[in-house]
Amino acid sequence: MLAKDIEKILITREDIQKRCVELGAQLTTDYADNNPLVVGILKGAVPFMADIVREIDAHLELDFMDVSSYGNQTVSSGEVKIIKDLDTNVEGRDLLIVEDIIDSGRTLGYLVDLFKYRKAKSVKIVTLLDKPEGRVVDIHADYVGFDVPNEFVVGYGLDYAEAYRNLPYVGVLKPEIYQSN
Ligand code: PRP
Ligand code: MN
Ligand code: MG
Repeated sequence: MLAKDIEKILITREDIQKRCVELGAQLTTDYADNNPLVVGILKGAVPFMADIVREIDAHLELDFMDVSSYGNQTVSSGEVKIIKDLDTNVEGRDLLIVEDIIDSGRTLGYLVDLFKYRKAKSVKIVTLLDKPEGRVVDIHADYVGFDVPNEFVVGYGLDYAEAYRNLPYVGVLKPEIYQSN
C-alpha cells in the first residue's frame, strides 16, 4: 500500500479542494474575457489541473506539454528537453501554465522563455506547491496553492521514481523509502 510509506501528511485533500475554490474564483475574475490556453505540464500537474480548471467559470482551452530536465544528478545542467510539445499555436494567446510544484524553477524558467519567444500575449503560472528554498532560477508563480518546506514531498501528482502520484494528499516520504534505493 502507498500510505504506509508516508511519514506525515502536509496538505490534505480537503485543504487542496478549499484552496482550488479560492484560486478558481480569482482566476475566473482574472480570465473572464481572455479565453486563456491552460497548459498542463506532464505528468505532475495532471491531478491539480483537473481540479483547478473545474473551478474556473470562464471560457478556456486546455493543452499539455511534457518536458524533462536532464544532466548530472547533483549539478543539473538546467537543460530542458521537450518530450511532447503543445498542439496549439500560442501566438497572441493568454497562457496559464499549471504546475504541481516549483522547486529550482528551471522547468518554468525554460517554458516562460519559450512561450514568450513564441509570442504569447501573456504568460502566467498557477502552481499547487511552491518550494521557495529550492530556487535556482528567479521564477515567481502568479497563483500559489501552498508553500512547502524543503522536504521530499509526494502525492497529488508529485512522484518518487514515478510512484505516489495518485495519493489524494501531499505528504512527506519516509526516508527509508528513498534511502533503500
Ligand atoms: C517536476 C515537477 C515540476 C518540476 C519542478 O517534474 O512536476 O514540473 O519537476 O522542478 P524544478 O522547479 O526544479 O524544475 P519532473 O521533471 O519530475 O516530471 P514529472 O512532472 O513527470 O514528474
Ligand atoms: Mn513536472
Ligand atoms: Mg517527477
